[in-house]
Amino acid sequence: MNPADSIEAESEVRLLAHIAELIGTSLPLAEVITSAIRLTSLVMGVDGSSILLVDHDSGALTFYAAVGEKADQLKNVTLAKGEGIAGFVAETGLPVVVSDVRRETRFSGRMDQMTGFNTRSIACVPLKVRGELTGVLEAVSRKAGSFGDKELDTLTAVAAPVAIMIENARLISEVRGLHDKLAEASRVKGEYLATMTHELRTPINIVIGNLDLLLGGFVGEVSDKQRKCMETSMRNSGEALNLASGILDLSRFEAGQVAVRVEEFRLEEVWSELELLFRIGLSGKAVELIWEPQASLPPLKTDRIKLKTILSNIVFNSVKYTDRGSIRVSASLSEPEDRIRIDVQDTGSGIPEEFLPLLFEPFRQAQGALTRSRGGVGLGLAIAKRMGNLLRATIEVESMAGKGTTFHIQVPRCYSAE
Ligand SMILES: Nc1ncnc2c1ncn2[C@@H]1O[C@H](COP(=O)(O)OP(=O)(O)OP(=O)(O)O)[C@@H](O)[C@H]1O
Ligand SMILES: [Mg+2]
Repeated sequence: MNPADSIEAESEVRLLAHIAELIGTSLPLAEVITSAIRLTSLVMGVDGSSILLVDHDSGALTFYAAVGEKADQLKNVTLAKGEGIAGFVAETGLPVVVSDVRRETRFSGRMDQMTGFNTRSIACVPLKVRGELTGVLEAVSRKAGSFGDKELDTLTAVAAPVAIMIENARLISEVRGLHDKLAEASRVKGEYLATMTHELRTPINIVIGNLDLLLGGFVGEVSDKQRKCMETSMRNSGEALNLASGILDLSRFEAGQVAVRVEEFRLEEVWSELELLFRIGLSGKAVELIWEPQASLPPLKTDRIKLKTILSNIVFNSVKYTDRGSIRVSASLSEPEDRIRIDVQDTGSGIPEEFLPLLFEPFRQAQGALTRSRGGVGLGLAIAKRMGNLLRATIEVESMAGKGTTFHIQVPRCYSAE
């Protein structure tokens, strides 16, 4: 091998290694591409080089990056479909070397007239990704005969990574655009649901209020038959109100409208506000409700209402799905992480294993007559999970069908947004 050949081969390898390094940096794409073609110009000893990208609808080529004396004037300039050597390469997909533009009819002098540059020779190669042409890489020189096979090989070698970089950046920006559109659509849907369910709650509350008056005998005597009808209406209105409230909560989360309100409180207070409701829910069932807080549990500094909702939704499920045995709720401090750990353990129906992955999804209820007969709409745990995420809490579950269920809640004792 001729020693000059090996020097050139080495510089091409070095050039590609430098470009690979550039790809690995966190610089913006335009800077990476400009640096890559600047290096290429230097190694090849040419006066200017540029990248032009094709518009697939019109076939026009637009300068994306350029280096050399007149580079600034070329930025965003467009060549018509098929115009000049670059246009020819974009149309045919073939590399071209022009040793002297004076003897080349396909050469368009328009760019030179615009910039005052005097092109004599050109090498131009296509940029292709998976066989599809995305643009061209062009090098120009003021001297005739500057380009041969070797220079064409170097340009072709550089074109491959450059084409992939540009295509990746295009794909990323396309995905980002889609993601933004989806996020916006979901936000609008959330806002719409929030408004609709909010509006729905007012008439349901009025219906419940009036049924209450009728059932209480405040507007006259009620026969047994009328009472039965009204009680059925009351139950169904209560379910409808729960549904509307659940959807309202959930859609507020989706619309990003839920804020954390931090206050200092004791877990015992929260429990005592809920306990009576749990006991009413358990009335008529042989189920023992046990509250076991660790002695001297320190106060919490987090969102009291949200923690109460999480606890209430989880314990109410135990109340609903346990017919005998016990529901044991224990609370303790896990010291090193300063988190409060609450375990809710019941001896109820248990949750089928195949249902566990769906447990926290909205409107999901384990199959079977049991769930249907206990009412509810399948929103309690979905809401608890979202509230938990907001408070940086974790909610885990262990369950065995027929044996019982244990929920483990761990919540930072002091809320912090990080
Ligand atoms: N402790 C439990 N024991 C048995 N099954 C449970 C328990 N907790 C949850 N499940 C199952 O998980 C499903 C989802 O619970 P979730 O609280 O989200 O909905 P729900 O209780 O059916 O309705 P809602 O809470 O909206 O009134 C329940 O329908 C039930 O099948
Ligand atoms: Mg529930």
